[in-house]
Amino acid sequence: MTGTLAKGNLDTLAHARRVTAAEQYDIASRYPVVIEAAEGSWMRDVEGNRILDATAASGALLLGNRHPAVVEAVVDCVRENGTVFATTLTPHRVRLADKLIERYPVEKAVFCKTGSEATSTAIRLARAATDRELVLTSGYHGWHDWQLAYLNMGFEPRTRVVNFGYNETALARLLEEFADDIACVFVTPEPAWFDVDYYQRLSKLCADHGVLFALDEVITGFRWGTRGLAGTNGVPVDLMTISKGLGNGHSISSVLGKADVINAYDKAGICGTYTREVVPMAAALAVLDTMADGSVYERTAEVGTRLRTGMADILAAAGVPALVAGPPMLFDVVLDSDELTRDIFRAAFDNGVYFDDGGTQMITAAWGDDEVDFALGAFDKAVATVLAAGGHRPSEVTEARRLQFATEAFGGALVDDAALLAKIDETVAAIAARERGEVGAAPKPCG
Ligand SMILES: Cc1ncc(COP(=O)(O)O)c(C=O)c1O
Repeated sequence: MTGTLAKGNLDTLAHARRVTAAEQYDIASRYPVVIEAAEGSWMRDVEGNRILDATAASGALLLGNRHPAVVEAVVDCVRENGTVFATTLTPHRVRLADKLIERYPVEKAVFCKTGSEATSTAIRLARAATDRELVLTSGYHGWHDWQLAYLNMGFEPRTRVVNFGYNETALARLLEEFADDIACVFVTPEPAWFDVDYYQRLSKLCADHGVLFALDEVITGFRWGTRGLAGTNGVPVDLMTISKGLGNGHSISSVLGKADVINAYDKAGICGTYTREVVPMAAALAVLDTMADGSVYERTAEVGTRLRTGMADILAAAGVPALVAGPPMLFDVVLDSDELTRDIFRAAFDNGVYFDDGGTQMITAAWGDDEVDFALGAFDKAVATVLAAGGHRPSEVTEARRLQFATEAFGGALVDDAALLAKIDETVAAIAARERGEVGAAPKPCG
């Protein structure tokens, strides 16, 4: 693609810098392009260039932009029903709860707008349901205040949140010492890094200690098997969150779980005017109908497998050692350095494909063989261009690199070395010395 860096995109970017913000998050850290429209998995920038999206809009899209069933459901809903009413209870909400309860191993569902809101709701519910204050977590759960330390193992006294860094030794010790004070253990699945057995063990460990186990399936709910980690692989959960994909890009999330936990909703003081918005619920109902018989998932998984295998083959043929792992709709590509990864994906963008330059690739059901061929062609050229430029000498993805990536990407503390054991002792001491607070106390809801 040649036009991407032409004036239309750059002028709009310069304008954006003047009138809006998020330099790091949006402007500088993404490719220099301003998207005007998208259909299926193809985006169109302000100059009319077509760009293939291999990120599924950070996972928000499951069926691709403007999927006919979703468009029809949304337009019908706006025309025939409206958008939001004086009450939170609508047939849309009840139908959606019914379908989610059928789909995942849970008894009740409540709704919010974003993944961050769902995860914040989940810990409020767990605290209210148990009257316990500590929350043990691993992984990214969004941008709200309680989630900011997700890369740093340890205890955060202001929020009473303990990050155990996916480390089973740490979790076992924390449960041993503090089970009676722990509201829940809340983990974001990392499918390229831990297999199903790992989550089964965590779930059992929690059950053995009488502690709620929660999975943050905001991203995996539709991408790790057709029913997420909990639903497809039978990992027992007391609570789970889903969001991305549910509304195929419309803003909706859900907290699902056992009835006695979800029933703490009022006690937890949860509310929100727009949780009642029916249009995203109409979108979600259309998505669930489309996904119902599993065939869309299966076909998309086949296409994703072709992409994953093709990228691994291209890297191998070019002599670039790589770790390519994860389910077909959510896989990671890890190279020996972040710089090499970024340079290759940037070169692929210049050839018309918007890969995630951190390495996690997600396709939508709108991808077919043509998209895979196009993506692999661009990736192949990108690898060749970067190697020909001579700035990199790719080397093995060593165990040390693998561990460094896990720490930097999701706060994984995967080795029980002396430093880790000392960190566990330090964390236990900090928790034991904490001032007990009112973290779980709920305000009176309004709105
Ligand atoms: C596992 C997980 N939880 C929560 C979130 C936050 O969701 P949102 O960005 O919609 O607030 C994300 C977003 O990437 C996520 O991947």
